[in-house]
Amino acid sequence: MTRKVLVTGANKGIGKQIAREMGKAGWIVLIGARDERRGLETARELKKEGIEAVYLNIDLQNQATILAAADTIESRHADLAMLINNAAIPGDMRKPGFEFTVDELRSVMETNFFGPFELTRRLLPVLEKTGGRIVNITIPIGASGFFNPFAYKTSKAALNVMTQSLGQNFKQAGKPLEIFAIMPGATTTDLNGNSTGKNFKTTGEAGQLIAGIILDGKNHNGEVVNHDGQTADYNR
Ligand SMILES: NC(=O)c1ccc[n+]([C@@H]2O[C@H](COP(=O)([O-])OP(=O)(O)OC[C@H]3O[C@@H](n4cnc5c(N)ncnc54)[C@H](OP(=O)(O)O)[C@@H]3O)[C@@H](O)[C@H]2O)c1
Repeated sequence: MTRKVLVTGANKGIGKQIAREMGKAGWIVLIGARDERRGLETARELKKEGIEAVYLNIDLQNQATILAAADTIESRHADLAMLINNAAIPGDMRKPGFEFTVDELRSVMETNFFGPFELTRRLLPVLEKTGGRIVNITIPIGASGFFNPFAYKTSKAALNVMTQSLGQNFKQAGKPLEIFAIMPGATTTDLNGNSTGKNFKTTGEAGQLIAGIILDGKNHNGEVVNHDGQTADYNR
């Protein structure tokens, strides 16, 4: 049976490669993107590779687009079996936390936490019917003098709690749902100004390892899984 997955932020970077890998594994991919032209372009590119891809407008800063996307899924893609919350913004990664305004922080929280939470919440009825899975792409948020982007870490800390807390809720309520997170590790993308280095992955490598974990046949409910496939303490 063909299954459907929605990937947010699928028009570039890691999200596009996750979409490609899931498509190669036989999934129909809903390309969530806020820019119609780039979303359609990605869907066309994947279709040329033999992947069934459909563009879906989602701007995580715009609740109306989230609600409209949830409606479209309910009416046309009620067989959706997976949501991958991939889209995110870093905010200013260099500025010390004490220099952030609340509005700057709110904007990053909106894209990286409130938007994904709203999308997840709205898709739960469909995912519950399909025994679906929710995958959050994330980062470690423990204290570090080396990696200390305030807004980005704050927002992903909230996302990590969502993963663990909803995982418990689903289990305790006996719901046929699974939520878990994957930390791909440093990857060269626009998000980090296309930084490179010894430990940096390409987006192709990150997409492959993420799809590999998703398709490993294990139940990861409530877990945060590291790029090496090990369950991680998300606080480190
Ligand atoms: N790169 C790394 O080293 C690294 C490491 C660990 C985890 N991650 C995680 O991997 C995920 C993908 O990041 P990436 O590195 O691939 O970044 P990226 O290349 O900058 O891609 C980010 C994606 O998110 C989308 N996006 C941004 N704001 C949005 C909004 N308001 N609504 C909908 N989509 C929005 C972007 O769309 P536009 O093209 O329209 O901006 C783009 O498609 C993120 O969750 C990130 O935290 C990345």
